[in-house]
Amino acid sequence: MSKNRLILNADIERGKISKHIYGHFSEHLGRCIYEGIWVGEDSPIPNINGIRKDVLEALKRIQIPVLRWPGGCFADEYHWKDGVGPRDQRKMMVNTHWGGVTENNHFGTHEFMMLCELLECEPYICGNVGSGTVQEMSEWVEYMTFDGDSPMSRWRAENGRKEPWKLKYFGVGNENWGCGGNMRAEYYADEYRRYQTYVRNYGSNRIYRIACGPNVDDYHWMEVMMRQAGNFMDGISLHYYTVPGEWSNKGSATQFDEQEWFTTLKKTLFMDTLIRNHSAIMDRYDPEKRVGLIVDEWGTWYDVEPGTNPGFLYQQNTLRDALVAGINLNIFNNHNDRVHMANIAQTINVLQAVILTEGEKMILTPTYHVFDMYKVHQDATRIDVYLESEEYVMEDEKLPKLSVSASKDAQGRINITLCNLDHENGAEVPVDLHGISSVKNVTGTVLTADKIQAHNTFEDPEVVKPVSFEDFKLNEQGLNVSMPAKSVVLLTIEA
Ligand code: AHR
Repeated sequence: MSKNRLILNADIERGKISKHIYGHFSEHLGRCIYEGIWVGEDSPIPNINGIRKDVLEALKRIQIPVLRWPGGCFADEYHWKDGVGPRDQRKMMVNTHWGGVTENNHFGTHEFMMLCELLECEPYICGNVGSGTVQEMSEWVEYMTFDGDSPMSRWRAENGRKEPWKLKYFGVGNENWGCGGNMRAEYYADEYRRYQTYVRNYGSNRIYRIACGPNVDDYHWMEVMMRQAGNFMDGISLHYYTVPGEWSNKGSATQFDEQEWFTTLKKTLFMDTLIRNHSAIMDRYDPEKRVGLIVDEWGTWYDVEPGTNPGFLYQQNTLRDALVAGINLNIFNNHNDRVHMANIAQTINVLQAVILTEGEKMILTPTYHVFDMYKVHQDATRIDVYLESEEYVMEDEKLPKLSVSASKDAQGRINITLCNLDHENGAEVPVDLHGISSVKNVTGTVLTADKIQAHNTFEDPEVVKPVSFEDFKLNEQGLNVSMPAKSVVLLTIEA
């Protein structure tokens, strides 16, 4: 007899799941922007105005809703004026954080905004507090959004863009407790207040200002920011990466055993604790939940692939990463009242990428497939679920075996996303369906593989891919689902 129990109350609605939870982050780091996105107009790789076509199409398929740029740590040493104007005249810079490589600034504001227009996604720009000035930040916003006659709007027009862009999301610095200036919370809170004052709303453009939030469980940072600057922000970020080992020895992306699988998933579940604890602090200053928690960097961080530049953070992506993505996205969905946006790090060729490229070749990772399966939750209404889960035991440690979230889309379809964390055993999941008069049809998709280390390669790109799932039976209470071990499942119920 299964100890799992899932009760789904389709008539108890818990608010909208912002589509921005399915957001991405692309930094000038390694081969993310250059090669991953930007190949230039003269490249033999098929491109639209310099942006590779295969990547554009793949990102459109998962309905990428928002893209954060230019960093990361890179943002606090990026001077945007060096990245506009004729490309062959742009100033070069050294990317000191990421491999010490020279950057030609060919991908700048115009290229990024064009990318977002092609993807039909919202741009989320992170400004420079660490090594920039208030004037520089203020002029960037004027350059992008001012709709009248001004020095910056004239310069924008000279550079080929007459109309202002719409820009909603703007971050005032990145990791200012670390690579963004090594500031104390008390100091940054005042700097934040000063910088954000000059991030102006021009014409009808309205900016959602995002303050730099805490590193993992730095609750002091959250407390100080909410107390000193809470009234001046719309959102505050949170960064938390899943690192299986220690920072000095993080572990391999593909060579790991069951114990490391377990530890990775355990560390992923910590995201829920973090959101609860940070939200509790935010609730004291913002009980109406006006300020969004923006988890704008999350994902796995392993040792780089052997033989690659350590500063490029290139790693493979296995079924384990699919579970990490599925669990995190369920957590974000279930905290939709506070989590307004999340951005996986990073879109292409860096950390937990959804796409990997090698020259003209491109593959989709298991993480990509999870984003594809979960896109049904974008802007859907979360519905109430109650879960009792069996334990997943390893040595003397225990985790819940299952993770779940559910929503109702605009057509009234119910979508349930379930993860079975257990590397070895399947899971019988009885699902009680409440608030549904009759079930017309149920369809399913599953992502799993024969091995926990399974991954896609350029030689064999379809080792891990979603397939149709039919291991469920309708009964009087609802459904009986038989999940395979180590799997992510999507069930769609038409009522
Ligand atoms: O995503 C890689 C780096 O991780 C980012 O640049 C930084 O913000 C974080 O420390």
